Amino acid sequence: MSPVLFVNGLFLLCWIINYSEAIKPEIHAFHFGRMLKSGQRVSVMCAVTVGQPPFTFTWFKDGTVVSESETVTIRNIDEFNSNLAIIKLGPEHNGNYTCRVTNNGGSSEQSDVLSMMETGEPKIKPFQFSTDINLGMREAVHCIVTYGEPPFEFMWFKDGQLLESIRGISYRKTDEFMSSLVISKVDADSNGNYTCRVTNLVGSDQKSAVLSVKDSGEPKLKSLHFSSELELGMRESVHCHVLYGDPPFEFLWFKDGKSLLDVQGISVRKTDDYDSKLIISKVDADSNGNYTCRVSNPKGFDEKWAVLSVKGVFCNLFGMNLLFGTATVFYLIVSSALAGAEEPKIKSFHFSNDLELGMRESVHCSVRYGNPPFEFSWLKDGQPLMDVRDISIRKTDDYTSNLIISKVDADSNGNYTCKVTNSAGFDQKSAMLSVKGRLKL
Ligand SMILES: *[C@@H]1O[C@H](CO)[C@@H](O)[C@H](O)[C@H]1NC(C)=O
Ligand SMILES: *[C@@H]1O[C@H](CO)[C@@H](O)[C@H](O)[C@H]1NC(C)=O
Ligand SMILES: *[C@@H]1O[C@H](CO)[C@@H](O)[C@H](O)[C@H]1NC(C)=O
Ligand SMILES: *[C@@H]1O[C@H](CO)[C@@H](O)[C@H](O)[C@H]1NC(C)=O
Repeated sequence: MSPVLFVNGLFLLCWIINYSEAIKPEIHAFHFGRMLKSGQRVSVMCAVTVGQPPFTFTWFKDGTVVSESETVTIRNIDEFNSNLAIIKLGPEHNGNYTCRVTNNGGSSEQSDVLSMMETGEPKIKPFQFSTDINLGMREAVHCIVTYGEPPFEFMWFKDGQLLESIRGISYRKTDEFMSSLVISKVDADSNGNYTCRVTNLVGSDQKSAVLSVKDSGEPKLKSLHFSSELELGMRESVHCHVLYGDPPFEFLWFKDGKSLLDVQGISVRKTDDYDSKLIISKVDADSNGNYTCRVSNPKGFDEKWAVLSVKGVFCNLFGMNLLFGTATVFYLIVSSALAGAEEPKIKSFHFSNDLELGMRESVHCSVRYGNPPFEFSWLKDGQPLMDVRDISIRKTDDYTSNLIISKVDADSNGNYTCKVTNSAGFDQKSAMLSVKGRLKL
């Protein structure tokens, strides 16, 4: 070989390498095929036919990068081939799939549309109720169509009877393929065999599940709170409130472990079947302690406790700062200093923070200071709150107004304000109610 030929050959080789490196890839068109059925496996190959590696393969579905999941895998077989596989085809996989291949020379794409043939009868996914449902809980099941051509009509039956959306039970179509049945507060009447039936133009399918409530009926109490800004001489009250369980209930109050019967200045009253109220007419140093409410019924019991702690009061009297440790002295001064009516002061109230849909909630707006008569008004997000559907407002005594939401739902969320007015002025306190949804999928 002459040196000239050798150099020319080397040059040609370099030119070929450089040239081919500059060639952008070409891809073989891929096709998902037709007559695809729900549940089957499909796989397509993105195969480079022209171009020099290294290549980068990227898969898109409707313009967004495909991420691997339980049902979708992407495997690069070798330098030239990338495989996209859908292990279990469902309606959610329908879309326009694109493979993009990039090298130094540029990039190219191929696309194909995956569209499941949905000519068949609907198929429903089996559903079940929770096995640990207790009375008062919220339960939801979902009837999900996994195969078939929309539109679908959903119907729910209980023990063979068409189920109407009634108080406490509702169902709604959450999307084209799903209907959810919600029992906002499970009770003994909720037990039964529930069936979801789905119909489309071609046919129908149905699935059933049996709901069986553990009828424990044990009481469950709302937590207790005393005011944190409690001062000597104030009136204080707390409610021991049953959230759910079967009446009749027996209420017992304890202070530091001792029964709270017949203690001077403390009274206990049952305000209704679900509620007992402890009233301390004038808080003093002796009132400090750990208060427990215990509620029992034949099925069981529950108890909640709260610690009361009174603040000492500094009172500026004739230029001297004195700390009054007893209610008596404080009251002497207060009552001599205040001739007329005093404006009300309300105790702050709280909604349960473990409130779930369907629960019964109740808060009390209690005046701890000031002269009756008082006028109570309730607002929600600044708007007057009326006695409507699930809300009732009751004055339980001269000092207290009780707001009851018989079944908490999403609409119950909001900022609730109690405003109390007397001839001398007014006070108001607010609390936020926020329901936890318990959606189980
Ligand atoms: C699929 O996506 C590709 C790339 O975005 C686009 O060029 C093509 O027109 C799309 N095909 C259909 C049927 O929408
Ligand atoms: C529930 O109802 C369905 C439909 O009527 C029926 O096929 C099924 O056997 C019932 N299940 C039970 C446990 O009763
Ligand atoms: C209050 O009493 C209850 C029940 O007796 C007890 O479980 C709790 O630990 C007590 N709390 C405090 C802070 O002493
Ligand atoms: C609730 O409403 C009261 C009275 O309108 C207002 O003062 C308070 O800031 C509100 N709280 C929240 C968290 O929005």
